[in-house]
Amino acid sequence: MLKLLGIQLLLFLQFVHSLYNATPSNLSYCQSPERQTCTFYNNCLEMAHPCGANGYAMNFGSYYCKRFAAFANSFSPNGEEWMYNTMQCLQLQLVPVLNNATISCSQIKEYAFASHSKCYVHSGGPSICTLSPFTDWLTVLRVIGVTQLFKPQIIHNGFSILGECLPLWLQRLQELFFSH
Ligand SMILES: *[C@@H]1O[C@H](CO)[C@@H](O)[C@H](O)[C@H]1NC(C)=O
Ligand SMILES: *[C@@H]1O[C@H](CO)[C@@H](O)[C@H](O)[C@H]1NC(C)=O
Repeated sequence: MLKLLGIQLLLFLQFVHSLYNATPSNLSYCQSPERQTCTFYNNCLEMAHPCGANGYAMNFGSYYCKRFAAFANSFSPNGEEWMYNTMQCLQLQLVPVLNNATISCSQIKEYAFASHSKCYVHSGGPSICTLSPFTDWLTVLRVIGVTQLFKPQIIHNGFSILGECLPLWLQRLQELFFSH
């Protein structure tokens, strides 16, 4: 009886200890960011690697996540699905960064930017390559903002996306011309 009580007490203490010791990055909502949310950037990435107002999490990730969500109604239904898939894909890419003890703030930025075009093009479901140019592409441009379009990182991303879309477009063209 006493032994059983002792084991229960031990388990309880271990539980309390694990609560105190839990780094946010190990919490389940950080390990699998929920769809249609932007809290990952503040509550997980910034907690694990405080890079401040100019870091990727605050300056870019959280900012654009909220901005895309605010424009949800400007997308077509297909475009909206693409937007939320991409949002989640971008956060998932950053999960391994949370427990990386040696990564620097500039490396986080570099790593995150490198994942953008893949998520825009292949996040499962609709791809940016096949969204409507007149509704969805224009909305993406509005979200990013004209003044941002000429920043080197954004231009670089644009070209990466074009590079990923080209094979898809060529395939479509081929189907269009040679399917009859
Ligand atoms: C968090 O998870 C990582 C890998 O899953 C592990 O190595 C680390 O010890 C955990 N940290 C804490 C405080 O639980
Ligand atoms: C941590 O990040 C650095 C820089 O991106 C990378 O070279 C390294 O492999 C990462 N370490 C782990 C354990 O993922």
